[in-house]
This record gives sequence, C-alpha cells and structure tokens, in this order.
Amino acid sequence: EEDCRLKMIKSRIRDFPDFPKKGILFRDICPILKDPGALSAVTSLFEEHVRGQFQHVDFVVGLDARGFLFGPLLAQRLGVGFVLVRKKGKLPGATVSVAYDLEYGKAEAEIQEDAVSPGHKVILIDDLLATGGTLYAACALMHQRQVEVLSCLVVVELKDLNGADRLKPHPVYSLLQY
Ligand code: PRP
Ligand code: ADE
Repeated sequence: EEDCRLKMIKSRIRDFPDFPKKGILFRDICPILKDPGALSAVTSLFEEHVRGQFQHVDFVVGLDARGFLFGPLLAQRLGVGFVLVRKKGKLPGATVSVAYDLEYGKAEAEIQEDAVSPGHKVILIDDLLATGGTLYAACALMHQRQVEVLSCLVVVELKDLNGADRLKPHPVYSLLQY
C-alpha cells in the first residue's frame, strides 16, 4: 500500500510551466494540503521512514516556508519538537545565518541560536529538493551549532538538478522523483 499512497500523493501535485520565471516548471504541492488523505499519507510515509532508520531524534527542523506545512505534523507523530529555519530577518533574539542560491534566486537562512544545542540529532524537512541550496544552507547552520543532521526529507526531488549530490554525505529521502 506504500505504492497506493505514493500514487495518491502524486495525483495531488500540479505542474505550472514558466513560474516564477521562464524555463522553471513549478511543482505545486498545495493540492496535497487540500486533501487530508494525501497529507496524512505524506506524514505517515515520513514517520515510517524515520522510525525505521533512526533510534533517536531530538527535533524536526523545517525550512521556510513550505517545510512549515509538513514539519510540525511529522514532529507530532514522532513525539518531538519542531524548530524553524527562517528567511533572514524574521526571528527575534540572537540568531545564526547563512546565505544560499536557489533554482530561481538568492536568499539567507537563519535560526535562533538557542533553538538547537551541540550534540542534538535532527531531521530536516522541506517540500521540495531542487538545486539543494536551501537544504545545504540548513545543514551548514546545523554544523555551525554542532548538530547532527540524520536525514533530509522532501516530498518532491527534482533529480536533474542533482541536489542530493550537493547534500552528501547527508542522506536524502524523497517520496516522489521527477
Ligand atoms: C522553494 C522550495 C524549497 C527550495 C528548493 O522555496 O520550497 O525550499 O525552493 O530549492 P533549492 O533546492 O534549489 O534550494 P522558495 O525559496 O521558493 O521559498 P518559499 O518556501 O518561501 O516559497
Ligand atoms: N523550488 C525550487 N524549484 C522549484 C520548482 N521547480 N517547483 C516548486 N518549488 C521549487
């Protein structure tokens, strides 16, 4: 039934050519969120993967903005807390930040300095892996804080952009590959 769940999820991804720029085929995950069955299938597949692979997880760390849609659901299922990696300038207090490139632009990722502690083991989560710039920046933030990234979870992986290579040695787990 894993295959059946993946089919259901895949049917809830819409393609938009030339968004937000000419030449980009945008994979829109909004229909997954409109369908409780598909959203729960995503959460269950992630939960089963993490439980099967890792003994101990301290936090689920979600990436701004679409990682915030899936991350807290997974964190609740695992019985752990959720931490936000935000675009720069949004978080109060002492922060750590790192700049990165996107498939269609540039950005800066930031965490609160006290959000995670040295020795913690975390799962990173986002909706989609393209060039890997965003998840790479989040990994760099975790390293700065001496936090271990167990795995990078995404719903969609765009294989042609080789994001998983960029993230090595961190494992990537994707539900759907294009
Ligand atoms: C998208 C997507 C990922 C990232 C993937 O977010 O949600 O976070 O790009 O691309 P990459 O692998 O090349 O880094 P975007 O930066 O468009 O921001 P949003 O989540 O605020 O829409
Ligand atoms: N983020 C980066 N590239 C993307 C794409 N092709 N579709 C949706 N989100 C993205």
